[in-house]
Amino acid sequence: MKIALGSDHGGYALKMSIIEHLKERGIEFTDKGCFDEKSCDYPVYAKAVTAAVNSGEADLGILVCGTGIGMSMAANKVKGIRAALCHDNFSAQATREHNNANVLCLGARVVGPGLALMIVDTFLDTPFSNDERHIRRISMIED
Ligand code: RB5
Repeated sequence: MKIALGSDHGGYALKMSIIEHLKERGIEFTDKGCFDEKSCDYPVYAKAVTAAVNSGEADLGILVCGTGIGMSMAANKVKGIRAALCHDNFSAQATREHNNANVLCLGARVVGPGLALMIVDTFLDTPFSNDERHIRRISMIED
């Protein structure tokens, strides 16, 4: 499994914690920026991460900004992307099982790093259910 990560300045520190966590777990990743805490524009990184997911360069994406909201709005504009803003474990599990979410969005100013890493693990470790009703609903979103 390979993960594409992106953040703006508001999400940079949490993204770096997630990267350390992925290294500890031996999960491959690509960091699409930003690369420091200078003020920058989150849609740039949402575009880069969603492109990596859509091209198959990455299996899943993780986007972090201050609230996670801007990143999820930007990511969900991209066809083929199902980005889920999750600040609890239940949502992270349910959105993989039901929505086959392919991008996780997090708000670094909303959750602490402990909970955020737990959410990341749940998101990465939960497979899509493949239930017919969920496949049907996802196709309706795509249409
Ligand atoms: C940046 O200050 C902040 O607006 C951004 O990180 C994010 O929260 C936007 O949705």
